[in-house]
Amino acid sequence: MEIKKANWITPARDLGDVCPVFRRIFSTEKAIEKAKLEITALGVYEAELNGKRVGDFVLAPGWTSYDHRLQVQTYNVTRLLMQNSELRVTVGRGWFRSPMPGWENEKDRKERLDQPCGLIALLHIAHTDGTEETLITDETWEVSEGPIRFSEIYDGETCDARVLPDHWQKVMPLAWSKDILIPQEGEEIRETERISAKEIIHTPAGETVVDFGQEVTGWVEFAVDARAGEQVFFNHGEVLSPEGNFYNDNYRSAKSEVRYTCRAGRQTWHPRLTFFGFRYIHLISWPGEPTPENFTAVAVHSDMKRTGWLKSGDPMLNRFFSNVVWGQRGNFLDVPTDCPQRDERLGWTGDAEVFIKTATYFFDVERFFKKWLHDMAAEQLPNGGIGSVIPCVLEKVSTGAAWGDAVTICPWQIYQSYGDKTVLADQFDSMKKWVDYITSVTTTPDLWAGGAHYGDWLSLDAAQDGDRTGGTRPDFIASAYYAHSTSLVIKAGKILGKDVGEYEALYARIVPAFRRAFPEYFTQTEHVLAAHFHLAEDPKKTADVLADMVVKAGVQLQTGFVGTPYLLHVLTDHGHGELAWSLLLRREYPGWLYPVTRGATTVWERWNGIREDGSLESASMNSFNHYAYGAVADWVFERAAGIRHAEDRPGFTELIYEPHPDARAGWLQAKVITRRGPVSAFWQWEADGVRYELDTPVPALIRLSGGEKIVAPGKYIFWEKHPD
Ligand code: BGC
Repeated sequence: MEIKKANWITPARDLGDVCPVFRRIFSTEKAIEKAKLEITALGVYEAELNGKRVGDFVLAPGWTSYDHRLQVQTYNVTRLLMQNSELRVTVGRGWFRSPMPGWENEKDRKERLDQPCGLIALLHIAHTDGTEETLITDETWEVSEGPIRFSEIYDGETCDARVLPDHWQKVMPLAWSKDILIPQEGEEIRETERISAKEIIHTPAGETVVDFGQEVTGWVEFAVDARAGEQVFFNHGEVLSPEGNFYNDNYRSAKSEVRYTCRAGRQTWHPRLTFFGFRYIHLISWPGEPTPENFTAVAVHSDMKRTGWLKSGDPMLNRFFSNVVWGQRGNFLDVPTDCPQRDERLGWTGDAEVFIKTATYFFDVERFFKKWLHDMAAEQLPNGGIGSVIPCVLEKVSTGAAWGDAVTICPWQIYQSYGDKTVLADQFDSMKKWVDYITSVTTTPDLWAGGAHYGDWLSLDAAQDGDRTGGTRPDFIASAYYAHSTSLVIKAGKILGKDVGEYEALYARIVPAFRRAFPEYFTQTEHVLAAHFHLAEDPKKTADVLADMVVKAGVQLQTGFVGTPYLLHVLTDHGHGELAWSLLLRREYPGWLYPVTRGATTVWERWNGIREDGSLESASMNSFNHYAYGAVADWVFERAAGIRHAEDRPGFTELIYEPHPDARAGWLQAKVITRRGPVSAFWQWEADGVRYELDTPVPALIRLSGGEKIVAPGKYIFWEKHPD
């Protein structure tokens, strides 16, 4: 990266809320062979060369742990360059200068708000005659106020289209580290889909609301005919109130507003330095009569390659699959976030850990997670603790069990899914430090006792109404994850050829200590964890008791963030596949398809975001786009459709094909593009048996009809007669 030869610059005069437009006019005499621009900003930027957008990366440079790491983008700008050129860069607050999150105290919010705006760039031009020249950010640049009067992650964007940047003023050098500059690591963030508005609703309260029919993360592009000075003003919402009115109390303090002052004539505009999570917009001001044709929702997220598809004979299940995919798209915006709409949108570690396996099926998330994990390692606390969110914009104290364990679970999953051990090599030290951290803070050796935890977040078995941490004992969860993380350090260490004797000895102590401390299990999640993490002496018996509990509860799950991802796996692993299907297909509350019956187009944070009587859960914690419960989709790929791989065959070098068909779904089709090629698996329940079709690019261990055999890569059809 040559960019370090350039200088950080900032406006010499404080422009307040207005987003500065930096510019440099220059000319090149000689013919150009190639030109590339290296650039990044403190904030988010959009660059234009001679009036044309540079690249299609939006919200660049993305979100990293800015104290340690700031990504630099490199664009090929050969075709945009002219003999006389003007390079312009608008810089918005972005994540860097936003006072987020919403509940932070005023002092911390103000500190972030007061961070300086900064730009650094280097343009490298190679001429056809072999000579080269570079242009860097320095005091020869100028800055002006531009049309973007305000832009912030939670509160939205304000634009005055009548304003042109034409009052050029001085910039000054900014003393800011260049050591933090790193080449682009993550996926680029892009506009990935355009969705036309479905209808304009006139609500009982007299509001004009545009419905896009799908919850998306991104922004609304609008086209309008107006007189200069006329106003467009709207805000965003995910659901309508029970009465059918606009509702966004659940955004909490995030204003999510767009304000636009028109110039004269026909114009098209969308915000570009912030984003929103929404299905509806409430038009508070609009010149004339709006029609659906005026509005397009634009989906914006990390541009990961799609790799997985699910389809079944049950339309509701298909809608649910689509909701999980939209949940991932809406929340994989440079970091894995909890939700895209309220005053959080943070890289919650627990949510990411819970969903990561599903994420690896639907999209290629290797680059995405490697970048985030590098941030996690960079921000690990000196005592080995991990912040609740990465980048860590909350207080720098360690988080609790299942959240902090993202530090071991995520690298292991990325290695498992893609088979490249560099992720383990990169993260191994931080994995170890986390386990050492637990060892150092526990109040009881060989267990994780004490400390603050999120528990089985949002489960349905809390002793007291309103307790979000659920009914599972915190020390139980913490100790189970202590065992799990230790086991992952051992496995990763062995793959890397490290000495893990110390951790093997620790693990050999944790298991009996766990069994002594927890001879009985009480909640669904306790059974799930004991069986799934191989802590129960008799996992089959534990799963049988779990199945009994589920049936006695009326075939209802009660699990939260921690128990839910493994619930169906544990049932299926121990002969209760049909019950697992019953839970998945349940249409009543609580269950995965209940929100679908309520019109959900993404996965909800809570099992009862909209209650059975139509009322809404408390606005203080009720996102309609939280991916965590969508984690069940990995069970659909692995157990229902039957595509998985053994732990010692990472990256699908060999397949295990073991489907669990169910008459109620009719048929199921799964496709996954693995690192070894596309796998496709299909089954159809017919009157006298089940027909299976498998197309595998690698050898596959087939487990059907109680038998096992290995087959070579190829296409296969199997038939299994129903028992008489
Ligand atoms: C987030 C969650 C997160 C949790 C911690 C919430 O506010 O939205 O998804 O994991 O806090 O318990």
